Amino acid sequence: MYFHGTSTVNEKGHLEIGGVDTVALAEQYGTPLYVYDVALIKERARGFCKTFEDLQVKAQVAYASKAFSSIAMFQLIEEEGLSLDVVSGGELYTALTAGFPVERIHFHGNNKSQHEIEMALKAGIGCFVVDNFYELTLLEETCRDLQIKTNILIRVTPGIEAHTHDYILTGQEDSKFGFDLQSGQADEAIKLIQTFEYVSLLGIHSHIGSQIFETTGFVMAAEKLLEKVKTWKEELNYIPKVLNLGGGFGIRYTAEDDPIPVADYVKEIVSVVKSKVDEMKIELPEIWIEPGRSLVGDAGTTLYSIGSRKEIPNVRKYVAVDGGMSDNIRPALYEAKYEAILANRVNDTKDEVVSIAGKCCESGDMLIWDLPLPKSSSDDILAVFCTGAYGYSMANNYNRIPRPPVLFVENGNIDLVVKRETYEDIIKLDLPMKQTIQQK
Ligand SMILES: Cc1ncc(COP(=O)(O)O)c(C=O)c1O
Repeated sequence: MYFHGTSTVNEKGHLEIGGVDTVALAEQYGTPLYVYDVALIKERARGFCKTFEDLQVKAQVAYASKAFSSIAMFQLIEEEGLSLDVVSGGELYTALTAGFPVERIHFHGNNKSQHEIEMALKAGIGCFVVDNFYELTLLEETCRDLQIKTNILIRVTPGIEAHTHDYILTGQEDSKFGFDLQSGQADEAIKLIQTFEYVSLLGIHSHIGSQIFETTGFVMAAEKLLEKVKTWKEELNYIPKVLNLGGGFGIRYTAEDDPIPVADYVKEIVSVVKSKVDEMKIELPEIWIEPGRSLVGDAGTTLYSIGSRKEIPNVRKYVAVDGGMSDNIRPALYEAKYEAILANRVNDTKDEVVSIAGKCCESGDMLIWDLPLPKSSSDDILAVFCTGAYGYSMANNYNRIPRPPVLFVENGNIDLVVKRETYEDIIKLDLPMKQTIQQK
């Protein structure tokens, strides 16, 4: 059995996280329930930062908050000294409400609205990561209207796609994100920004994919970007001060996954950037990265109560839990795989193979296929590991199921950081039907 972070089994045979008995948590807070191992988040955050410090490289590690955003999460990230990547007005609002230092906020997104741009400019955020020509013009105009200057990175697509274990070099990058490097779009963007009065180009950003287990893709991306820098230096007199190589560092969801230590990614990235800038005889840019999943993914565990069971002889045993695609849409969305155990009977022999079904009205609402488990009943609690990234943040109210609460646990302490949604919350935006008003 593989335990993440502080997870362990206690003398009662229960799963314990952060020194807290998860069975007691399920009793006290109900299920489904997300539990985060705070010590593991801190360990990961410090791992990234320390590697840059040891290498004596100026860097920013920005938490990609799409993985899990909440006020408490942003406060934890702030305490750890990381920066923050937000992608929408909602994530930005949460960050501002959490009191996150604005200068360390980076605003991403391929279709920021004028309202979102104004909100970020008025807040004085650190930088925008600009995705396209429409946004460039909109940003410069909005800055002029508000008489505010701002810094940006431009997101480029380097023509490398990471497919978890291997990489394809694509001639014409087919992605909704960023300025294409091959076709000269990025060059055009730089030329345009050089004519701007309010928007300054701090550097370049690229993100090649997610759940990546090797350093090769990052090295290839850095090489391609720096090849371009050579041209920009000669032809446009432009040298980036910042090089942001995105996130995507892989984690262990199941035994099939074999992640490398986070330090290895950082060391390889720094080494290739250093050697390329030495060749060009230019100053080493600040290196930024944006991990999401690798900071919070394996720190999260979801606890469910087991309910109904359906056995089809010689075909399959379905065991249903009190959540599903409403709290974890990843298996339905992209066949993501997870491991799970009975939190209240960790040491019991796994004597059957079952498939874990959610409670949503959708055949595709399956959380895990073919999971070895002890024979379970409705007294049991299922703990699904590694649900910390893109779990709560993608949770939804399908079938009007309230979203579960979130707990932070550390050193035996429990902190309720997101409350359970209620049925009242579910209908709070609904309005009763009025008389039909005919449009004139
Ligand atoms: C631009 C960008 N940065 C960072 C991330 C974080 O990726 P991960 O959670 O895999 O580290 C993403 C994920 O979609 C992204 O699109």
